Amino acid sequence: MEHTQIEELPRELRYIQYDHSLEAQYLPAIRALISKDLSEPYSIYVYRYFLYQWGHLCYLALEPKDSSLVGVIICKLEPHASHSPPTLRGYIAMLAVSSTYRGHGVATNLVKMAIDTMTQRHADEVVLETEETNIPAMKLYERLGFLRSKKLHRYYLNGNSAYRLVLLLKHVDPDSAADMALDDSDMMLR
Ligand SMILES: CC(C)(COP(=O)(O)OP(=O)(O)OC[C@H]1O[C@@H](n2cnc3c(N)ncnc32)[C@H](O)[C@@H]1OP(=O)(O)O)[C@@H](O)C(=O)NCCC(=O)NCCS
Repeated sequence: MEHTQIEELPRELRYIQYDHSLEAQYLPAIRALISKDLSEPYSIYVYRYFLYQWGHLCYLALEPKDSSLVGVIICKLEPHASHSPPTLRGYIAMLAVSSTYRGHGVATNLVKMAIDTMTQRHADEVVLETEETNIPAMKLYERLGFLRSKKLHRYYLNGNSAYRLVLLLKHVDPDSAADMALDDSDMMLR
């Protein structure tokens, strides 16, 4: 089925970039939204680790009526030293949309915004892991051009396996491409 834009939603949502001044207003809602569907809840320190350093790579979708949180994406961007030369790797750490707003392109919009900002900041690639059973997430990322780079067996504490997905943003030498999105921790998990 062909989908049109998010006009399918009853009203247009507001998308904003995270800013530290929003912590008191939105961090509890961000944690609640993300932990709802997680097999392993993150501590507050994990959120602060990402938001303090890469708040500019976090986007919120808000319900304009009451400014309540509808969706969120949290990312980071840093050099990946195990490649030679090091690549600048974007990482999508968390993505969630409130269940009543799903299927309208909200997550797609959030992922695109994060990728646009990473591209502006010269990222070479964007990676993430998602549970192999998470069909909506797999479909969403593959529709946006992400490729499966490897399967991570029993990656999660619940015993489920994951896929490492990668989106290459720059032309890469095919001989070195096989190494992209691989790192030492991946090797141990194989
Ligand atoms: C995975 C998740 C973030 C997807 O959120 P979402 O807002 O429903 O995602 P989207 O609407 O962008 O895409 C989902 C579907 O809506 C469709 N869609 C509807 N309208 C659309 C539009 N205007 N633009 C793009 N896609 C649209 C997409 O085609 C897609 O369907 P498909 O996968 O069958 O092709 C959401 O299900 C969620 O929060 N899950 C729990 C947390 C989670 O699993 N996070 C991911 C961890 S990696």
